[in-house]
Amino acid sequence: MGVKIIATGAYVPSYRVSNTDLECLLDTTDEWIQQRTGIISRHISQGENTSDLGYYAAKMAIEQANIDVAKIDFIIVATMSADYNTPSTACLIQEKLDANNAFACDINAACSGFVYALHIARSLMDYSTNGYGLVIGSEVMSKLLNWNDRSTAILFGDGAGCVLLEKSVKSNLLSHVLHSDGEKGLSLCAVENPVCNPFVDNEKEVLPFLRMNGRDIFNFSTRQIPTLILETVEKAECTLDDIDYFLIHQANLRIIELVAKKLDVPLDKFPTNVEHYGNTSSASIPILLDELIQQRKIVLNGECTILMAGFGGGLTWGALLIRI
Ligand code: COA
Repeated sequence: MGVKIIATGAYVPSYRVSNTDLECLLDTTDEWIQQRTGIISRHISQGENTSDLGYYAAKMAIEQANIDVAKIDFIIVATMSADYNTPSTACLIQEKLDANNAFACDINAACSGFVYALHIARSLMDYSTNGYGLVIGSEVMSKLLNWNDRSTAILFGDGAGCVLLEKSVKSNLLSHVLHSDGEKGLSLCAVENPVCNPFVDNEKEVLPFLRMNGRDIFNFSTRQIPTLILETVEKAECTLDDIDYFLIHQANLRIIELVAKKLDVPLDKFPTNVEHYGNTSSASIPILLDELIQQRKIVLNGECTILMAGFGGGLTWGALLIRI
């Protein structure tokens, strides 16, 4: 039994913040940001939360597929910026969609979240009654950032992307590889939740924002992603030439360019949109997929082979090879 992507959706808040806008807030320049990251602008929420963005993306996919929401068996949301600790973002979206027959939960694998969630969804589909499930990557990264820290505030953006899955006889997921390395987790962490109750003496300084060792993450991703891609391709017994597009987590243009170079694959097989959205964490891959479908560069006819690869906090990294 397998899964098929039958529709996609994406949503970003309307408020666009350019690098030049950031020059007024931080000691930075448009030139520095573009040179180091490729980012020109990002969309920032002025109030819509993670469940709102995810809901709009999901609604778009459902409308496109024109299916009855009652047939959706599960909603998995990949996020590191949930509205609440509980209820989950997925439950909030279930309520907004009126998808009353779905079970719903969040998973957190930071910027690898969408790839992890899609793999989990494939397994869940075996037990699905009606044969439909939603996988959403949704983030309001702007609420996790220290807006006085120029080394991180310039990198991220808010947004959501979604795929609607249908159970299929043929397995379209050709291979997957997921990795985690908790030992290096503190290279990228966000918002510490320490034990706080009347029985603890809490003098400890708490991390209220996202903090990252940029150089470590850069080295980690440029070292691990080419290996991860080769591992995934080998597992499916195919070659890099068989892949139409490589959808790499949109963290930084320099990382994507280095990965393409290391694999000796033409850069035009690595579509990007980090220029306009910044790093939207778990939302970056589904937003990019939706964009390619809207531009008709990808048609959902079962003839396009794409490799999705995510990396980020945890540390986590993972890839899926899928025919869509
Ligand atoms: N504007 C201007 N100068 C800045 C700046 C900014 N926004 N941010 C940092 N700098 C300065 C630093 O203070 C430092 O100055 P100094 O040499 O006087 O100390 C200098 O620029 C170089 O800083 P450094 O951190 O070494 O830059 P870098 O070349 O490593 O680039 C990143 C920084 C963050 C762009 C880069 O490390 C990176 O892309 N890392 C991966 C991050 C990522 O994608 N994370 C998410 C993964 S999911």
